[in-house]
Amino acid sequence: MIHPIVKYGDPVLETPAKHVEKFDEGLQKLVADMFESMYAANGVGLAAPQIGVSLRLSVIDVSNGKNPEAKIVCANPIIVHVDGEQREEEGCLSMPGFRAYVVRPLYVTIKAQDAAGKDFEMRSEGLLARAFCHEIDHLGGTLFIQHVSMLKRDLIKRKIRKLKKAGDW
Ligand code: NI
Repeated sequence: MIHPIVKYGDPVLETPAKHVEKFDEGLQKLVADMFESMYAANGVGLAAPQIGVSLRLSVIDVSNGKNPEAKIVCANPIIVHVDGEQREEEGCLSMPGFRAYVVRPLYVTIKAQDAAGKDFEMRSEGLLARAFCHEIDHLGGTLFIQHVSMLKRDLIKRKIRKLKKAGDW
C-alpha cells in the first residue's frame, strides 16, 4: 500500500523515533509499504517517520528499483565508522522541490538489523553512504536542512511558509 509522504512542518519528522522491538508480520507489511511508497515517490531512501510511523526503520535502494540486490532494510541503524568527505546536492521526499549542498562522509559503516531482526554491518561509499546518513538523521528527527547554512535554511523555510499559505504544501 502506498502511503502519502509526510511533509516538512509535521512534528513527526522532528521527533526522535522509537526503537524497533518486534519483527513480526506487521513490520514486514510496513517494510513492504515503505518500499512501495518510496518507489512511487521516486526516492532512493525513506524513513518510517516520513509515512507518519515513529519507528527507527528505513529502507534504501540507490538503484531506484533497478537492482533487487540493492534493496536495504535498516532497523535501529547506527553509524559505527566514517571516513572522508563528499559535498553533493541533497534533497528529501518530505521537502519536495528543495535541494541543497550537504557535506557528508564519503565512507560510512553502519550496524543495523534487517527485516527479520538479524544484525548486520555494512560498509558504504558515495551515494549509499549519503543515504545512510540522511536516513539515520531522519530517525533522530533531523532533516538535511540542519546541515546547510542558517541563511540557506531560513530561505528554504520562508519559501515553504509561502507555499503553505498558498495551500500548495
Ligand atoms: Ni529525507
